[in-house]
Amino acid sequence: MKRYRLRIPGPIDLEPEVLAFMSAPLRAHYGHDWVELYTETLTLLKQVWQTKEASVFLMPGPGSVGMEAAIASLSGDTHKLLVLTNGFFGERWVTIARSYSSRVSVLEGTWGRALDVDAVEQVLKRERDIRAVIMVHGETSTGVLNPLREISMLCERYGAVLVADMVATLGGTEIALDDWHIGIGVSATQKCLECPPGLAPVAVSPHAWELIERSKGPGWYINLRTWQHFAREWGDWHPHPVTLPTGLTQALRYSLTTILDEGLSQRWARHWEIATMVRTTLAKLGFELFVSDAREAMNTVTAAKGHPQLPATALIRALKEKHRILIGGGIERLSGQIFRIGHMGPTATREAMVPTLLAIEDVLRSAGVAGPVGD
Ligand SMILES: Cc1ncc(COP(=O)(O)O)c(C=O)c1O
Repeated sequence: MKRYRLRIPGPIDLEPEVLAFMSAPLRAHYGHDWVELYTETLTLLKQVWQTKEASVFLMPGPGSVGMEAAIASLSGDTHKLLVLTNGFFGERWVTIARSYSSRVSVLEGTWGRALDVDAVEQVLKRERDIRAVIMVHGETSTGVLNPLREISMLCERYGAVLVADMVATLGGTEIALDDWHIGIGVSATQKCLECPPGLAPVAVSPHAWELIERSKGPGWYINLRTWQHFAREWGDWHPHPVTLPTGLTQALRYSLTTILDEGLSQRWARHWEIATMVRTTLAKLGFELFVSDAREAMNTVTAAKGHPQLPATALIRALKEKHRILIGGGIERLSGQIFRIGHMGPTATREAMVPTLLAIEDVLRSAGVAGPVGD
């Protein structure tokens, strides 16, 4: 199999120390030693989430399993859910929400622009029976960073629980679960948490638990009440309802330790610095950034439109074939129109991004595009 450098918005190339856990001997997913490892992993995750109050779970599966768990657990039929969308993953939340509840309102924003806090407030004012608001923090499909803190504070004022998709931001972008009054946070291991795919960390605040208890949503595996039951009743032996991938959990514990050793604020700053370098260089190379306002751009993913003389699909293909570098393309309505670069964890470095940008410059030159490139 040909090997490519993964500069897509997750999964990313990982450190060999992390990968080594995937071939470690199997171990039991219960018992004293396991509970110690599992508990330590949750404690580290809480630090990355900056929470002391929330309960944290590790659900085997992709990020979408955490998304579905949040919705299933909140989908009682007595209240309304409001989903905010401005991209492909926001729309996935709408699909999941509608599959569990008939009482779903949707506020559609613009792809490429951050969600409008005032517009959210208008809906909360108008529709008084909204008890949960769902949003994506970093919309990987467009590279937009949505105003998580502001929307969460707004929800707090209107008595609604905020559910946030932090799949592409946790571990790379500032998040303070307790201080920002976030109800439920959902993430995935394959992006800024620097692990292979396969676990969905989910955090639930005490305030969100009240609504979950009242909702009495359906499901067993997918319902967070089951996870809470096992954490409470089986806590000293088997604190989760199903068999966990033990190697991946060990890898996560290791990567969380390295994340915290680096320091959270240093890490966010590193991601911003690299994102700025990527944005600036792409603009110099003549690309139009998909998120034009830098204040609305993610620090972990950058999206740009194809070059006037080199369509996005041709650039992606040439990088793959000539440089063995994989970057992402546009999804759904942006298919063929944009390309996306992930700079997360070990790829949010000059070591990873300078060769990627030089390769892009090389592809442009080969395509006969003149211009002021890469100084
Ligand atoms: C913002 C966001 N939400 C949700 C998901 C879904 O994650 P998964 O593919 O692990 O289910 C992704 C995946 O890229 C994502 O970027």
